[in-house]
Amino acid sequence: MRSGLLLEGVRPLGGPRQRILIKEGRIAEVGEHVGDRAAVRVDCTDLVALPALVDLHTHLRQPGGEHAETVASGTRAAAAGGYGAVVAMANTDPVADSVAVVEEVAHAAAGAACAVLPAGAVTRGLGGEALADIRGMAASRAAVRVFSDDGRCVHHSALMRDALRQIAAVGGVLAQHAEDPLLTVGAQVNDGRIADLTRLPGWPAAAEESIIARDCVLAAHEGARLHVCHVSTAGAVEVLRWAKARGIAVTAEVTPHHLLLTDDLALTGDPLYKVNPPLRAPEDVAALRRALAEGIIDAVATDHAPHAAADKTPPWCGARPGMLGLETALAVVAETLVETEAMGWADVADRMAVRPAHIAGAGRRFGRPLQRGEPASLVLIQRLPWQVRPADSLSLSRNVPYSGRSFTHRPVLTMLDGRITHDHHGLLNGAGPT
Ligand code: DOR
Ligand code: ZN
Repeated sequence: MRSGLLLEGVRPLGGPRQRILIKEGRIAEVGEHVGDRAAVRVDCTDLVALPALVDLHTHLRQPGGEHAETVASGTRAAAAGGYGAVVAMANTDPVADSVAVVEEVAHAAAGAACAVLPAGAVTRGLGGEALADIRGMAASRAAVRVFSDDGRCVHHSALMRDALRQIAAVGGVLAQHAEDPLLTVGAQVNDGRIADLTRLPGWPAAAEESIIARDCVLAAHEGARLHVCHVSTAGAVEVLRWAKARGIAVTAEVTPHHLLLTDDLALTGDPLYKVNPPLRAPEDVAALRRALAEGIIDAVATDHAPHAAADKTPPWCGARPGMLGLETALAVVAETLVETEAMGWADVADRMAVRPAHIAGAGRRFGRPLQRGEPASLVLIQRLPWQVRPADSLSLSRNVPYSGRSFTHRPVLTMLDGRITHDHHGLLNGAGPT
């Protein structure tokens, strides 16, 4: 009987061709001459192998928004994008601010196409007034380590300080949606030229940068870990650079859309391009790419935000912010950073798997090196031009901002603990789990 898989010709982290032998859900061996007569051989010539990706920022919409996404559909989209784990944001209905809701999400994710790490809300009902049951959620079966009011900023300084203290005590991280709401009342598009041209209220960079600066100071005083969600401005990068130089325990993420798209897309009036924080100017995009390559920004996180079609139709001001991201993130990073030679595949693995896994407290299971004895959780990437067709998405929603756009790379096979969770070409048809 066949047992195990022998992936032939793969290039771990984009390096020289190797064979990877997978048995019983683990990597049994990696090397040029590895062989195993019982294993099913799979021709993977020149496919780049990375550890399965980890997304720090996914909106799965369950409970309460199942018309837009569910744990099942969102995790299928994640697997198609090369992900082995996603952090599920807490802005559901009801909000994930209690043991009951985070355990419900964890339960719904049993057997799903990728692992789900439920985030807990920082404040009750995302209301920004009283802390959620942080200790309870951390101690629950969902073992929450990422706490976030994402969608909203934890604005009240004293509450933020108390939250940092409690979250530090449970060994977690506070993921802040950095937006001073007093500076973004009615804001619709990037402040400056685009706000002037569209005559819509502008979204100033200061709303983001001032909160990041404040929170870095609070985190330093509390000895707590802070993570900054979807950094979008060049100034925010400078604040992070300052905080990191001082040894403050801050990490940050950037979204694929902020690495690729610019604020002039708002001139189309198409709410597909409406997102929070807004698309920014080309100078910001350039600074974000540099910061990711340098490591000042630690991670790429999708902010996959599914919305029903009715919520993304004009007029702009009535539409909800957010765009899909799980299935296209790797292609965007390959195009903006690998093809431009700003980053190598080892850097991509670091920013999309290793660091996110550590930030989420999942570093023992995810973001592991592709070595003997490690879990067989990996993604294989092919260099093959392809075109984005929203109808192909495995998400229940269609609000992908890259319709018709071509990319050069795509994940073709995703494996989680030896289980095939996505197989674009049917490479492993019939091979079954290892
Ligand atoms: O664009 C966004 N959409 N930004 C957020 O912070 C929340 C998200 C959502 O939940 O739709
Ligand atoms: Zn957010």
